[in-house]
This record gives sequence, structure tokens and C-alpha cells, in this order.
Amino acid sequence: MENPYITRSPVKDPDGFYGREDILKRIFKDIAGRGMQSHCIIGERRIGKTSLLNQIAHSQVQEEYTEGTEFSIFVKTDLALFPEALPATFFEEWVRDISKISGQAPSKKPGYLSFRRFVEDVTKIGYRIIILLDEFEATAANSNLDRGFFEFLRALTQNYDISFILFSRTPLQHLMREEKFSSKYSSPFFNTLNISYLKFLKEPEAKSLVAEPAQKAGTDITDFIDFILEQAYYHPFLLQLLSSIVFDYKKSSDTNHEKILKEFKIQTEEFFTYLWQHSKNRKHSKSSPQKTRTCQKQSWTTLIEEVSSQKIEAKYSVLHLKNS
Ligand SMILES: Nc1ncnc2c1ncn2[C@@H]1O[C@H](COP(=O)(O)OP(=O)(O)OP(=O)(O)O)[C@@H](O)[C@H]1O
Ligand SMILES: [Mg+2]
Repeated sequence: MENPYITRSPVKDPDGFYGREDILKRIFKDIAGRGMQSHCIIGERRIGKTSLLNQIAHSQVQEEYTEGTEFSIFVKTDLALFPEALPATFFEEWVRDISKISGQAPSKKPGYLSFRRFVEDVTKIGYRIIILLDEFEATAANSNLDRGFFEFLRALTQNYDISFILFSRTPLQHLMREEKFSSKYSSPFFNTLNISYLKFLKEPEAKSLVAEPAQKAGTDITDFIDFILEQAYYHPFLLQLLSSIVFDYKKSSDTNHEKILKEFKIQTEEFFTYLWQHSKNRKHSKSSPQKTRTCQKQSWTTLIEEVSSQKIEAKYSVLHLKNS
């Protein structure tokens, strides 16, 4: 039996997705209402932004949370795939996806005016458009997306049944505060967004994430729940990873905790080094990532808690962008 845990890519299938009901309810309520509300979802690395985006775009989840989304068109764009793209490139992408569902013929020349007309035509016949923008912080490095572009998006949302859901590692106020980007992000578009933070899962969700996949695959790892929760807390990525390691060890009838932990440390090295490099405590402490890992539990908790409560040094993601 194959290992059922998802550790390397965002969750696609609703069966493998745990928790986040509150945020899903909130989003679907806002996009279903009159005067659709745009959102920004902010969450640290590997906390589950893309997995959540995949759920919003999934017809099974849409049916669960709304009365019917047959007239809603969801468009997904991973902004990291479009470095230095011009606004016209995005319009072209969006028009292509929207016209596939609405049947509305795309205009020949993609541009501000023709995109506005296209949205007008599609929404006039009763469709609502929801554009999901993943890796939103990538817009900072794209000099072709200026204040005018975001002003235009805002004008669209105010005049037609269209809304945008942004997913970002960097809180918007941090982007706005950075002088280099302040003009771009001072667009009123950003003041119209509802903001939600993605944090840890809740305890029952974390327990289900650990136990259920193994159960479905015919293996019981419930005797490891406390051990897994103690090491990975309620962080979805860490829970999946440690459960996956435990699953493999249990199948080979080797349940040596030390060995399992060693493997977990190797697999999470890159993740924790990243957290460490962007941790505000780094500046105030003489210890190193190496030391952090050796005095493991306490430091890991602090790091993960910092991440989940967004206490991490404001500038770090912007600095990260500059370095990349
Ligand atoms: N709600 C969830 N249920 C189950 N697993 C989850 C959930 N959210 C995240 N995961 C786990 O966490 C991992 C990372 O999720 P995802 O790629 O969605 O995070 P992300 O915030 O988009 O990360 P990044 O900042 O690197 O883009 C997934 O591979 C999966 O193992
Ligand atoms: Mg992601």
C-alpha cells in the first residue's frame, strides 16, 4: 500500500484536505453576496495557502459551501509563473479561461479596454468571476504591474460581478511600508480587501489529518498521535511529513522513536533553516540554526509559534524578494 500522506505538493483533493472551514465559509459567503467582496489570505511558508486555493477552485467544495456555483467562474493564476509579465498577459490568460466556461468569444487584442468590455459582457449574461491569485508577493518584483493596474482591478470589482482572492506570504502592510513598492501598493484596491490569516490547524483537525489517511490505507498509527502532535504541533505540513515517516516505519515494523525523529529532522532541515533565517529572534540571540535544531523542541515551538502568529520581523519577506 502506497504512503497516503501528501508532503511534496499542495493538497488538491478535498478528501485529503483538513480544517479551514471558517475561512472557506467566510470566502464563499462574500463571493456569493451582492457586491462581491475581494479577499487577501496571508500565511507563512507551507501553512497551506495553495491547498486552500485548490479547495476554493474545486467544484465539490463549491457545492458544499454555496447553493450553486454554476454561474460562477473560478480562475487560478500562480503569479510566480509570470515574472515581469505585462497586464495584457494576465488579461489574455483570464479571458482564455473565462471564455472556455462562459462561451463568450475572446476579443482579439488583450488590453485594459477590451478586458473591461469582456468582463462586462460575461457578467451581463449572469456569470460571476472569481480570480484566485497565488504567490501574490511576486507582484512586488514585477515592475510592469504598477499602481494603475491595481486601480483598474478595483474599478472592475466596483462595477461588475468580479472579485479577486489574493494569497500572500507577505502581509500587504509590509509591502506597502517598503519605500520601493509603496506607490504600487498604496492603491485603494488594497483597502477594499477582507484580510484573513492562515495559522495552525485546530487540535481535532490535526488529529484527523494524522490518523485518517493511514486508516484508509489499512494501517493504524493512532498510537503515535501524541508523539506526532508533540513534534509537529498543529502545523499541516509538519503533521503530514511526520505522519508519512511514521507510516513507513510502522509498515517495516520498526518503531524506534529516535530513528523516526532523526529522519524528521533531515526532512525538515531546509524548512527550519528558512524559518530561522527569517525569525526576529535571530537578531537577539547568539545561537545558530544548528543549535536551534539541537535544542530542538523548545526552539521549534517558538519558531512555529512566531510564524503562525505573524510575529516574524516585518521586513523579512521583502528582503527575501530583494535577494532572489
Ligand atoms: N488543510 C490542509 N490539510 C492537509 N494538509 C495540508 C493542509 N494545508 C497544508 N497541508 C500540507 O502542507 C503542505 C504545504 O501546503 P501548501 O503548499 O498549500 O502551503 P503554502 O502555504 O502554499 O506554501 P508556500 O508558501 O511554500 O507556497 C502540503 O503539501 C500539505 O502536506
Ligand atoms: Mg503555495
